[in-house]
Amino acid sequence: MSSPLLQVKGLTKAFGKVVTAREIDLDFEAGVLTSIIGPNGAGKSTFINMMSGSLSADAGAITFDGHDVTRLPIHARVGMGLCRSFQVVNVFPGLTVFENVEIPTLVNRRRAARFFSPRAKETQVRDQALEVLNLVGLGHRTEVKASELSHGDQRLLEVAIAMAARPKLLFLDEPTAGMNPVERVDILKHIRRISNQGSTTFVIVEHDMDIVFSLSDRVVVLHRGDVICDGPPSVVQCDEQVRECYLGQEVM
Ligand SMILES: Nc1ncnc2c1ncn2[C@@H]1O[C@H](COP(=O)(O)OP(=O)(O)O)[C@@H](O)[C@H]1O
Ligand SMILES: [Mg+2]
Repeated sequence: MSSPLLQVKGLTKAFGKVVTAREIDLDFEAGVLTSIIGPNGAGKSTFINMMSGSLSADAGAITFDGHDVTRLPIHARVGMGLCRSFQVVNVFPGLTVFENVEIPTLVNRRRAARFFSPRAKETQVRDQALEVLNLVGLGHRTEVKASELSHGDQRLLEVAIAMAARPKLLFLDEPTAGMNPVERVDILKHIRRISNQGSTTFVIVEHDMDIVFSLSDRVVVLHRGDVICDGPPSVVQCDEQVRECYLGQEVM
């Protein structure tokens, strides 16, 4: 079997007495759409922060695409294709949809295309930004100001901004936060479709269990810093321990 895109070994993190990761071992294979679920405070965001590099682990190792990234800063990981989005909306409201994606595309291209003429570069950036916008389903709204988009479309735009860096692996922390149920299904279907195209592998944190179980290939359940269940939706859905940790919460 080929080695996993992302490999986590013995990952441990505590804030005082609160353990948010207890010797977590997890492999993420390319092309597998994974959802990380768990009650509030389970350690989901902390886990993503350690993967992106915004938080350092107390112990453990993170290997991405064959390289040890455990001690690499955020920008070095982004440069390698290990990216994340945030729990809060992060778009430039005064810029158009196109401009919001054009900027990160430019930054990304600057590294790759020093040798092309300015005109050729401009066309390439435009084409790439449009390609990403089409991918998330915003290709028909390029000239609209980001502030004029619905909340759901702003979150889609965020995914497009993250996609502009051409990530190999993209963590999305609650991409449907603040969305209505229709918008939620919509954005997750877009993510499922992009995932199926194969160039980016998605790992998402999501609360809507119907969506999680219908759209993920794999579900990882975190509870107080432990992985208590890991498998296909059909298995996780029936797991007694998972049900117990959600008792008293409305999610299942
Ligand atoms: N910077 C921090 N300082 C202290 N405690 C933190 C910090 N970040 C997270 N925590 C604690 O770690 C636990 C897990 O948090 P988090 O990873 O955000 O959970 P989740 O995303 O699963 O809801 C919570 O109890 C939270 O209060
Ligand atoms: Mg969180």
